[in-house]
Amino acid sequence: MLRYVLDIVGKAGHETEFYQAGGKPVRGCLGCAVCWDKPGKCVQDDWINEIYPKMKEADAIIIGSPTYFADLTAEIKALIDRTGYLAMGEGGTLRRKIGAGVTAVRRAGGVHVLDSIQHFFLIQGMILPGSTYWNLSVACNPADFEADDEGLRTMANLADNINWLLEKLN
Ligand SMILES: Cc1cc2nc3c(=O)[nH]c(=O)nc-3n(C[C@H](O)[C@H](O)[C@H](O)COP(=O)(O)O)c2cc1C
Repeated sequence: MLRYVLDIVGKAGHETEFYQAGGKPVRGCLGCAVCWDKPGKCVQDDWINEIYPKMKEADAIIIGSPTYFADLTAEIKALIDRTGYLAMGEGGTLRRKIGAGVTAVRRAGGVHVLDSIQHFFLIQGMILPGSTYWNLSVACNPADFEADDEGLRTMANLADNINWLLEKLN
C-alpha cells in the first residue's frame, strides 16, 4: 500500500524514499527527556536515530502499520513516541509537514490504527490530507490489496491529495 502511494507521488515528480520499521530492533521511549536537554539524538542509539533526520528533511511523511489487536505494531509505536519527543525537544521540527497514515487490516480495528498515527501528526502541528475513505485496505497480503478496488482508489486519491498539497505548500 505504501509503495502504491509512493509510486503515484513519485510519478508527479516528487522524490520518494521507503523505509521498513518492521523487524528493526527498536526500543520503546524511556521518557528520560534527555533529548529535550541535548536535542537531536536519542540516548538509545538504534535505527530511530537514523530515521529521525530523514523525517526532518521530508516535506511529507506517510506512516503505515498493519493492524495488530486494533492498534499499531510495536516498531511503529516506538517510532512515533521517540521521534515525537525528539521533534518536540528541538522546538517542533515536524511542524507544517504533510502527514498521512495507512493501514492494512484483516477484518476490524484499522480505523483505530489511523487514529493513533493521526494523533501523532496532529500534536506535531502537521497538515493532514484526506482521501475518499479512511486510508485502509482489507488485506492480509499484497494480492488482497490488489483486488480491493476501493482500497486502491482510496490510496490513489490520498496520493493525489498529497501531490496537490505538496505543490501548494512549495
Ligand atoms: C499480532 C497480530 C494482531 C492482529 N490483530 C488484528 C486485528 O486486531 N484486527 C484484524 O482485522 N486483523 C488483525 N491481524 C491481522 C493483520 O492486520 C493482517 O494480517 C494485516 O493485513 C497484516 O499486514 P502486513 O502484511 O503488512 O503485515 C493481526 C495480526 C497479527 C500478527
